[in-house]
Amino acid sequence: MSTEHPPHHVPVLLEAMLRTLTPADGENYLDLTAGYGGHASAFLAKTNNYTDSVLVDRDDYAIEHLSFLEQKGTRLLHTDFLTAARSLVEEGRQFSLVVIDLGVSSPQLDQGNRGFSFTKNGPLDMRMDRRQAVSAAEVVNESSSSDLAQIIHDYGEEPYSQARKIADAIVANRPFSETEPLAAVIADTVRGRPGKPSGRRIHPATRTFQALRIAVNDELGQIEHLLPLLPKLLKPGGRVGVISFHSLEDRLVKRYFKDQADAGYEAELQIETKKPLHGATDDVHNPRSRSAKLRIAVKKINNKRKGTK
Ligand SMILES: C[S@@+](CC[C@H](N)C(=O)[O-])C[C@H]1O[C@@H](n2cnc3c(N)ncnc32)[C@H](O)[C@@H]1O
Repeated sequence: MSTEHPPHHVPVLLEAMLRTLTPADGENYLDLTAGYGGHASAFLAKTNNYTDSVLVDRDDYAIEHLSFLEQKGTRLLHTDFLTAARSLVEEGRQFSLVVIDLGVSSPQLDQGNRGFSFTKNGPLDMRMDRRQAVSAAEVVNESSSSDLAQIIHDYGEEPYSQARKIADAIVANRPFSETEPLAAVIADTVRGRPGKPSGRRIHPATRTFQALRIAVNDELGQIEHLLPLLPKLLKPGGRVGVISFHSLEDRLVKRYFKDQADAGYEAELQIETKKPLHGATDDVHNPRSRSAKLRIAVKKINNKRKGTK
């Protein structure tokens, strides 16, 4: 079954993406995190080039929903974006437009059975690609306390002492097979954390769940190794837009873009966003976009070194 406009996923920063990436008739499109096809359908409606475009997602539910675009001739790749990017580079494919909308989709978060949610009980899973062997249950039940603390600190950005307390409590109460009991143990351990200055408290399990999700899906490793492939995937004059949702993702994109900006004549990309565009101001109607940041780069048409002909 495929639905062209699933009601539960609203694409983030869509207007800003269309405005800054300026898709034009005939251009080809690569979406490395196609999800439910929100960005893809809007871009493909502008380019009207379905058959020379490629959509990637590692989630089988998303791929199933994307069949409405496959029916128009667009190629779907059910794999992680690093594997997809490497094989497209090997095939010598280049694109005018590349979109990367990082993180999880609303359906992944909202469906308890995917195991990403601490508010809806479900199996402790968190795999975006359910063919993958290691799920959150293995990470939670089989890691040492110090490895768990490191994951919670590095990927959840919990202070190390807090991460240690959470890890010790997890180890003392495991095994866990479902999300709610795990969230309850974390909440008991984190109780008493002061709210943000805005008064908006986050659920005490938010950071640990983010950390486990990042570890299970190797999210940061995927981004770090994908970014240097972008110049190879873009045609000269091609544009890439990257949307990130938390500081760990954005830091990698920002660092890679800064390295390009600092590389002068060696740089392959021209960075269009010195400061990222913010979802909170650009996209006030979409609550998911509160923490979204968009960075844009363009592949240089001619990046010959100074002095060369
Ligand atoms: C925020 S959603 C994208 C939503 C999409 N832009 C839309 O408008 O419907 C992120 C999607 O990227 C996928 N994803 C995240 N990391 C991935 C990776 N490393 N490789 C492939 N897909 C990934 C997730 O499975 C999810 O479907």
